[in-house]
Amino acid sequence: MVTNLTAPALPAEDRRWKIVNATMRRLGYSPNALIETLHTVQEAFGYLDDVSLRFVAKTLRVPLSRAYGVATFYHFFNLKPPGKHTCVVCMGTACYIKGAGHLVEAVEKAHNVKAGETTADGELSLMTARCIGCCAMAAAAVFDGETIGKLTADETLKHIRRITSHDA
Ligand code: FES
Repeated sequence: MVTNLTAPALPAEDRRWKIVNATMRRLGYSPNALIETLHTVQEAFGYLDDVSLRFVAKTLRVPLSRAYGVATFYHFFNLKPPGKHTCVVCMGTACYIKGAGHLVEAVEKAHNVKAGETTADGELSLMTARCIGCCAMAAAAVFDGETIGKLTADETLKHIRRITSHDA
């Protein structure tokens, strides 16, 4: 069997795909990495879509039907797009030590949303992730695909205002 240990072509220039790829690489691009990889996709993007399922299935050499099967079988996977904007707060150890928990609390309070959920108006999804691979920048979060580090609670709220302010 041909093993695929070289980095696959990522679907887009978005740091989050590198995070997904890092999970697959750590697990040796094994077909058994499917569930854990889909977890990483969901943590990073908030949901699983056709692009991500195809990418993961192809890279791990599992049939697309199996990827869809797993994604639809487990209730913790979400196939619906999240809110218009996403804020993914890293809750990995380095970020946690630097107060990531306070960032999440601040967003939950200010936007009346729980981690893993979307605001009632569909504007913002608040997600958390395990280490997103930039611990030197702790505490870090990804705002609509843009990674920003050394965050305080106030700055986190400011970045959310920035990404959501373009919607009139
Ligand atoms: S723990 Fe947050 S980037 Fe590593």
